[in-house]
Amino acid sequence: MSSRVRVEASATVANFGPGYDTFGLCLDQPSDLLEMAIVEKPGIHLQVAEEGFPVPSDPEFNSASVAAMELMRLADVSVNSVGLAIRLLKGVRPGSGLGSSASSAVAGAYAAAELLDIEDQRTVLRAAAQGEGVSSGAPHLDNVAPCLFGGFTVVLDQERLRVLRIHPPRMRLVICLPDIVVETSKARKLIPNELRMKNTIAHVGWASGIVHGMNTGDLKLIASCMMDEISVPVRKTLIRGYDLARSSAIAAGALSFSISGSGPAVFTIAENNHNEIGEAMVEGFSRANVSASYFITSPGAGARVVMME
Ligand code: HSE
Repeated sequence: MSSRVRVEASATVANFGPGYDTFGLCLDQPSDLLEMAIVEKPGIHLQVAEEGFPVPSDPEFNSASVAAMELMRLADVSVNSVGLAIRLLKGVRPGSGLGSSASSAVAGAYAAAELLDIEDQRTVLRAAAQGEGVSSGAPHLDNVAPCLFGGFTVVLDQERLRVLRIHPPRMRLVICLPDIVVETSKARKLIPNELRMKNTIAHVGWASGIVHGMNTGDLKLIASCMMDEISVPVRKTLIRGYDLARSSAIAAGALSFSISGSGPAVFTIAENNHNEIGEAMVEGFSRANVSASYFITSPGAGARVVMME
């Protein structure tokens, strides 16, 4: 049995256009690094590394430790009998729309599962969803599933943890992060309770196109279906400069443009000119007096162990 493990769990793009609470893509960076060790003193002992983004250091309010505790509960391991020391280096910016709480939650659940020899991935997924729910206010799987499994995922049934895993084609995404913080719990309150029939029909078509494009490697099809009538129309109001960044990106050659998760990060898929598109998005936001930065990334492979003793 191992006594110390270090895991990496990366950022994700949830919703991915038409798949509100359903689609998610794992990115290869940025990521959270979490080290967990079995210690003599029972309970969860959490340390948040100063080099990373600040997050709660109270184990009851941190996604990583909540997920680890939930994994212990699901595995019938009492926190009064086992001690876990956790050190979290937060590399995914909280409130960015890049699945920050999910990456911590997956890291916490995954590391605890490694140390406690729990092999059932659904248990890890369930525990991570619980940890993620600490910050979003409502557990949902469209960040934790791709973060854990890698690639592109489709949540088929949240209650039963049915998740479709698709190996995405090679692609490069440009992610632009404006200097705005959006709280997922607040952004979720904007989502309408009902969808008009016209939009429902459109969503079925777009979602089918995305899944087919993922399976066949058709980037142009994926990009042309990157549409959303559920969250983008209401949430773009939280992202000042959204329309300017969008038109700049498209003018620079981006094939698509949408909000990542609940935002404020926005993302595009492009075949060429990734740096020019990133600079165009930053320039678009700057015209709305919002500073922003961009990075280029690709689909990631999911949570992984980087060290074990
Ligand atoms: N599907 C979620 C949402 C992702 O859009 O609210 C953010 O956690």
